[in-house]
Amino acid sequence: MCGIVGYVGQKQALEIIVAGLRRMEYRGYDSAGVAVVADGKLEVRKKAGKLVNLETLLGADPLPNSTTGIGHTRWATHGGPTDRNAHPHVSSDDRIAVIHNGIIENFQSLRAELESSGVILESETDTEVVAHLISKALPSVDHDLPRAMQAVCSRLEGAFTLVVVDSEQPDLVVGARRNSPLVVGLGTDGNFLASDVAAFVDHTRNAMELGQDQIVILRADSVVVTDFSGNVEQAKPFTIDWDASAAEKGGFDLFMQKEISEQPKAVADSLLGRIDESHRIKLDEFNLEPAIIRDLKKVIVVACGTAAHAGMVAKYAIEHWTHLPVDVELASEFRYRDPIVGPDSLVIAISQSGETMDTLMALRHAKEQGARTLAICNTVGSTIPRESDAVIYTYAGPEIAVASTKAFLTQITATYLVGLFLAQTRGTMFEDEIRSVLAELNDMPSQVDLVLDTTEPVQKLARKLASARSVLFLGRHVGYPVALEGALKLKELAYMHAEGFPAGELKHGPIALIEPGIPVVVIVPSPSGRAVLHDKMISNIQEVRARGAQVIAIAEEGDESIVPFADHIIRIPAVPTLMQPLVAVVPLQVFALEMARERGHDVDQPRNLAKSVTVE
Ligand code: G6P
Repeated sequence: MCGIVGYVGQKQALEIIVAGLRRMEYRGYDSAGVAVVADGKLEVRKKAGKLVNLETLLGADPLPNSTTGIGHTRWATHGGPTDRNAHPHVSSDDRIAVIHNGIIENFQSLRAELESSGVILESETDTEVVAHLISKALPSVDHDLPRAMQAVCSRLEGAFTLVVVDSEQPDLVVGARRNSPLVVGLGTDGNFLASDVAAFVDHTRNAMELGQDQIVILRADSVVVTDFSGNVEQAKPFTIDWDASAAEKGGFDLFMQKEISEQPKAVADSLLGRIDESHRIKLDEFNLEPAIIRDLKKVIVVACGTAAHAGMVAKYAIEHWTHLPVDVELASEFRYRDPIVGPDSLVIAISQSGETMDTLMALRHAKEQGARTLAICNTVGSTIPRESDAVIYTYAGPEIAVASTKAFLTQITATYLVGLFLAQTRGTMFEDEIRSVLAELNDMPSQVDLVLDTTEPVQKLARKLASARSVLFLGRHVGYPVALEGALKLKELAYMHAEGFPAGELKHGPIALIEPGIPVVVIVPSPSGRAVLHDKMISNIQEVRARGAQVIAIAEEGDESIVPFADHIIRIPAVPTLMQPLVAVVPLQVFALEMARERGHDVDQPRNLAKSVTVE
């Protein structure tokens, strides 16, 4: 949510900043803006709409050469997506330019204070107050920008990443963070600040995590980190383990296509190194004492969106393998309802970005109650893993398309490893049982590959159904979260009414939605896995068909019993029940993508959404 980039060094800042913004546009695309410091002056260009509008403006009204600058791509919170509300915001004396991600909760009182001292605010944003406050603070701290930033940050409430430049200190970029992402890139020709390493991975793979409530003072050849009182602090260095090409389209038209195609590798990478020679799971990062693991009484998964669906899939597996009760909670609801959580609970926070504010707040609440916490995360150095007792990283590589795909498969994979690890430690499964599930998991990359080889009929069908008003998705058991995920993808991308239901629940209300011709996508359980589920699903299909629905069955190869009941059949490989989500979701991703294209929507950047949602 909002992408931020800052650079100071020997190179031209503008090129670096615009390229960085392009990489971070997934975080928000309501407006974009840049500021550079040149000849003792600030030069700002900003424009509502996608980055391309800013680029057009920069073509028409170029910026002077400069080696110091900042840039922003916005997901609007305070104030509509207009040119005026676009960042950077500049102080009345044209000295300070600021970009911001997050929400400054006490901005109204700060705004009133500024207005009563005669400042005229140009925008409706919460951000602009910071520019004025810093400019006003400078004289009282010998015009030292870091000290002014420290003083102002101490007055701010809420979540913020702020990056500022000062026209009178052209060799300096200063950043600050509280509850909002900011990482440092350490280059040879200069240094970088960004919401996400993707912004600077072209230039350097050496990065530094920042902690909570820290200020970072960036010069071409130095990086100093302090707390909000000015005390110097250490920051943790890390190496980015993917290169710039991983964040590019690599010959595909869309990031989402590329990311769907990367799923076999993503699952394989997430399994790599986590099974030892004697076929036991080794999760070195899951450093909870065996005694603590044995004493656990429950598992709670907190997550949002697609990650929550991965958690719902995991519930079936973890309960089955460990006999521990597993609650799956939407993170945004968790802390507002006195959840029963304590030292004998393991709280698993699943998050691709590691920055989702709802998930972070749920995690913090669980920690306050004494719970053991584990993050399952795709972004190294992000806040959620940093604040958890333990972390299992997924190795999906950068996910740029707003609608999550490969992260989902790797989240399921990682939660399965955790479930098996708990079972191994608690002795609830025999070793050979664990070994056989691991073999099934190891087989999944090639099974997903098979699905990817046969997406043509799914695309055709999507094009055919693109004018539907509504699509329903039905599943049972692990197929239920898959149905939810299929519906979410369609909502996100095709802007179409779509709902996922547990098939058995249909008759208790949702069946009233069935009208002649409505497409109903059914995730059919394997007849050889849990036959009873398969039979029940056939009955549910008959119920909707009797009312005129057209049924699209996602059914395993060889399941002939489905043929008389389906209008269209999409085949997936026959795999064990708990593995089915990993193959069944792939045609649903392709279906949504194709429908969105047919309806003329921007697949990678759907309207109103952002990939990393850093506000509650
Ligand atoms: C946003 C995204 C979703 C994502 C959810 C959770 O809403 O649009 O695609 O599933 O956040 O994100 P996380 O980074 O925590 O997995």
